[in-house]
Amino acid sequence: MKERNLLVVGGRSGIGREIVKRLDRQGCALDVVARAETFDLSSERIRYHACDLSRDNNALDFLPDRLHGVVYCPGTIRLKPLARLSEADFMDDWQTNVMGAVRVLKACQNRLKKARRGASVVLFSTVAVAAGMPFHASIAAAKGAVEGLARSLAAEWAPRIRVNVIAPSLTDTELAADLLDGEAKREAAAQRHPLKRIGTPGEVADLAVFLLGDAAGWITGQVIGVDGGVSALRFTR
Ligand SMILES: NC(=O)c1ccc[n+]([C@@H]2O[C@H](COP(=O)([O-])OP(=O)(O)OC[C@H]3O[C@@H](n4cnc5c(N)ncnc54)[C@H](OP(=O)(O)O)[C@@H]3O)[C@@H](O)[C@H]2O)c1
Repeated sequence: MKERNLLVVGGRSGIGREIVKRLDRQGCALDVVARAETFDLSSERIRYHACDLSRDNNALDFLPDRLHGVVYCPGTIRLKPLARLSEADFMDDWQTNVMGAVRVLKACQNRLKKARRGASVVLFSTVAVAAGMPFHASIAAAKGAVEGLARSLAAEWAPRIRVNVIAPSLTDTELAADLLDGEAKREAAAQRHPLKRIGTPGEVADLAVFLLGDAAGWITGQVIGVDGGVSALRFTR
C-alpha cells in the first residue's frame, strides 16, 4: 500500500483508529479527520484534521489531488422504542451516518477517479439492517440507506472505484460503551452471539484494510458482516 493516499474519517478512535494504525504500518499517506482537537497517534505519514464532516465538507480542501481510498467511520447508536424516538433523533442519525458519507464522497469523487490503478471506498452499516432488532428503528433506517448508497455508487463508479460496506455487530469501542459498561452487560452481549463474544475493533479494521487493498480488487457492491455469526446463524449449541 506504499505511495497511496487515503482519507480516514473518524480515525481518532474505535475501528477507525485501528484502520489508521494498520495503514500507517503499510506505509500509506493518511489524512485523518475527527471532531476532537487532539489525536494521539503520531507518524510522519499521518496528517490529522479536526472538523465535523457530518455537517461541513469545506474543510476537505486539504486533501491531495489523488486519493486511493476513503473510509467513513462516524456512526451512532441510539436504541429506543419507536414511541421515544423523535423526528430529531431520526434526522440526527441520518446526518451523521448518511449525509456525512454523501458529502465526503462528493468531495472525494474526482480525487478517487485519478487513482491510476483504481480506488476503494469503505462505509459502515450495522448487523441490525439485515437482522431486525428491537429499538434499532432509527439507526437501522439510516444504515439501510448507507447500504443502498454504497450499492448505487459501486454501480455508478465501476470499474474505477470499488465501494463496499462492513456491517459489524457489537464491537468494543467508545461508541458502544453504554452497552458494555459492566461485566453482566458484556457477558449477556457475548452470549447473544454464536461465537460467544463481542468483536474487537482490530478484527473489523482488518476487513476494512483488506477491502482497501489490491487483494480485494474484484469485490465491489458488497455488504460484509463481521458479527460473530449473529446475522446468519440461528441454531447454535
Ligand atoms: N461499535 C459497535 O458496536 C458498532 C456496531 C455496528 C456498527 N458500527 C459502526 O461502525 C462504525 C465505526 O464505529 P466505532 O464503534 O469505531 O465508532 P467510534 O468509536 O464512535 O468512532 C467513530 C469515530 O468517528 C469520529 N466522528 C464521529 N462523528 C464525526 C463527525 N461528524 N465528523 C468527523 N468525525 C466524526 C469520532 O471522533 P470524534 O468524536 O472526535 O469526532 C471517532 O473517531 C460506525 O459507523 C458505527 O455505526 C459500530
